[in-house]
Amino acid sequence: MAEALTFDLSGRVALVTGASSGLGAGFAKLLASAGAKVVLTARRADKLAEQVAAIEADGGQAIGVTMDVTDAASTAAAYDAAEAAFGTVDTIVANAGVATEKMAMGLSVEEVDFLLAANIRGVFLTATEGARRLDKAGSRERQHGRIVLIGSITAEKIFPATSVYGATKAAVRHLGKALAREWARRGISVNVIQPGYFASEMTAELFESDVGAAMIKSFPRQRMRPASDLDMPLLMLCSDAALGITGSVITVDDGQML
Ligand SMILES: NC(=O)c1ccc[n+]([C@@H]2O[C@H](COP(=O)([O-])OP(=O)(O)OC[C@H]3O[C@@H](n4cnc5c(N)ncnc54)[C@H](OP(=O)(O)O)[C@@H]3O)[C@@H](O)[C@H]2O)c1
Repeated sequence: MAEALTFDLSGRVALVTGASSGLGAGFAKLLASAGAKVVLTARRADKLAEQVAAIEADGGQAIGVTMDVTDAASTAAAYDAAEAAFGTVDTIVANAGVATEKMAMGLSVEEVDFLLAANIRGVFLTATEGARRLDKAGSRERQHGRIVLIGSITAEKIFPATSVYGATKAAVRHLGKALAREWARRGISVNVIQPGYFASEMTAELFESDVGAAMIKSFPRQRMRPASDLDMPLLMLCSDAALGITGSVITVDDGQML
């Protein structure tokens, strides 16, 4: 019988952005439980410390590093801290993102810039800073670079009050494919996970409202699924199994896009 597929990430060094809450905190915990040394980054140091403590309590190895994804210097400094602690980061989850719950006519220019900065500039800086370092560390020969960008189904389907947010996620989808093409011969796989709606700080207000309840009723399966639905796709894309998978987009949405 064939050996069961496992996603053992021991020996790998992962950096997760937006790891202070929500999906990113879950991704960090998951990667640590699979054996990776994990660098959790975000702006809120206290929340990072809580997540690091939880990982360590489970026997995992992790550090928290403050990082603002919109800022190139902050991003470079976080990678420096990660390298000093664990060595070259070979597994990057560009997860940090922000959303607004406003229709386009109510969005201010400042809110538009806020969405673009975190969701596009942030993902670009996180991926390129990591890729440059991987390239220098010999990813072309070692083939060990794994980058996963967290997009959203709003990149492809129009949901209420997601005009600019969805546009930023369409940009993430595009970036994932473009960077995968640029780095194809550098031993770096770049893929995108497009989650549907899951419970998190970002969506808490929406799903406590009548609009949110109506949205859930409109979903094909009329339910919300736990964010752990994202675990297997993430582990797979971070593992050796993804050596031959690059430029792909995996949607995990319980059919919400249908
Ligand atoms: N939940 C969903 O239904 C859903 C669906 C599709 C896609 N997504 C995507 O999944 C990702 C995670 O979202 P979530 O639902 O887990 O939301 P969340 O709980 O609000 O988490 C967002 C994370 O991003 C961090 N962040 C925001 N701006 C940042 C910045 N400038 N620099 C560094 N970190 C920053 C936040 O940390 P600090 O505030 O501490 O910096 C936080 O850890 C986002 O990209 C989101 O668009 C979520």
